[in-house]
Amino acid sequence: MKIAYKTLDDVNVAGKRVLLRVDLNVPVKNGLVTDTMRIDRIVPTVQELKKKGARIILLSHFGRPKGKIVREMSLRPVLRPLQSALGGESLVFSEDCIGPPAEQASKRLKDGEVALFENLRFHGGEERNDPVFARALAASGQIYVNDAFAAAHRAHASVAAITKFLPSVAGRLMQAELVTLERILESPERPLAAIIGGAKISTKLELLGNLTSKVNLLVIGGGMANTFLDAAGIEVGASMCERRMADEANRITMVAKQNNCEIVLPVDAVVAGQLAANTRTVTVPINKVPKQGMILDIGPESVKVIEAKLAECKSLVWNGPMCAFETPPFDAGTTAVAHAVARLTRVKKLISVAGGGDTVAALSKAGVIGDFTYVSTAGGAFLEWIEGKELPGITALSGK
Ligand code: 3PG
Ligand code: MG
Repeated sequence: MKIAYKTLDDVNVAGKRVLLRVDLNVPVKNGLVTDTMRIDRIVPTVQELKKKGARIILLSHFGRPKGKIVREMSLRPVLRPLQSALGGESLVFSEDCIGPPAEQASKRLKDGEVALFENLRFHGGEERNDPVFARALAASGQIYVNDAFAAAHRAHASVAAITKFLPSVAGRLMQAELVTLERILESPERPLAAIIGGAKISTKLELLGNLTSKVNLLVIGGGMANTFLDAAGIEVGASMCERRMADEANRITMVAKQNNCEIVLPVDAVVAGQLAANTRTVTVPINKVPKQGMILDIGPESVKVIEAKLAECKSLVWNGPMCAFETPPFDAGTTAVAHAVARLTRVKKLISVAGGGDTVAALSKAGVIGDFTYVSTAGGAFLEWIEGKELPGITALSGK
């Protein structure tokens, strides 16, 4: 779905206070940012604005504090990696994204300087798309630039309502995401495959249903695969499985058949008694999962099947790991599939596009990010774009 929007080429930002909405919802563990992709990818927009003499105010959400101040969800831990990504200069931090602290911070900024405002979601008005909150945000700036493609599927105040109060344009990352996804996926080279992982099908039912009409091959991984296996009458033991979703799983299988979309499920599994690092495992054919066992990874035969199927495809979209990849040795299946995709991409047999926090973490762990044709900074927004859904953040930029 192509929507017209303005870009940084259409506005004069010199000496102006620019509200730059970014997605700094990065993974943080023990106060440290563990993956900086979302930070690194906004650098071109920030550098361009600096060069043009803008006064830059970064706005972002972090986590889901639900309208309250939650100390663990402060954007402070992002400050240092952000500073180093921008070449080491010190940034102004405002404890609040609206009101006197925001006002003071924005007034203090000189041309080319950068401020970061505290988590937008500390205010309930953000997720409510509240125009009063949006107006309060807008008060700190003169131009609004949206570089948060990863949040474009949320009709939130800093993404949607704010565009009513300021001239609004897309940043360079937003542009790059939209242009690249359109180029690769608007009329993709076929056969087109999708790898969709994740724990629960209840949260991805609509997505899976929609995908069966768009892709030729659908590889289902993670806990979701167990629900499909169970629905097909295969014993999944003590594995994560939504038994009450069996009818829904079978319905998706049927719709896929009607749409000539082949669904690929694991043919073998790595099973253990518990999800724990380096615990004892057995690898079994998928119809031999013991009653007490938990499926925690796909086995080597499944990897072979997936690789062979992908070798017959020309394009791939990937969201969601195949298994419990954070806990070794259950990362092996996802890593092996990642290497297979990387190989096929390197020899130009496959156009590969991936998105989503867990997926990017898994690809990064496998060391293959650079081999993929494109890696999106978005998860949910990436999937909704692929489904052909309207993204409120993009619609708002079009002025509609
Ligand atoms: C994401 O990480 O997917 C985006 O930052 C959106 O976050 P949300 O799912 O909490 O709205
Ligand atoms: Mg999300």
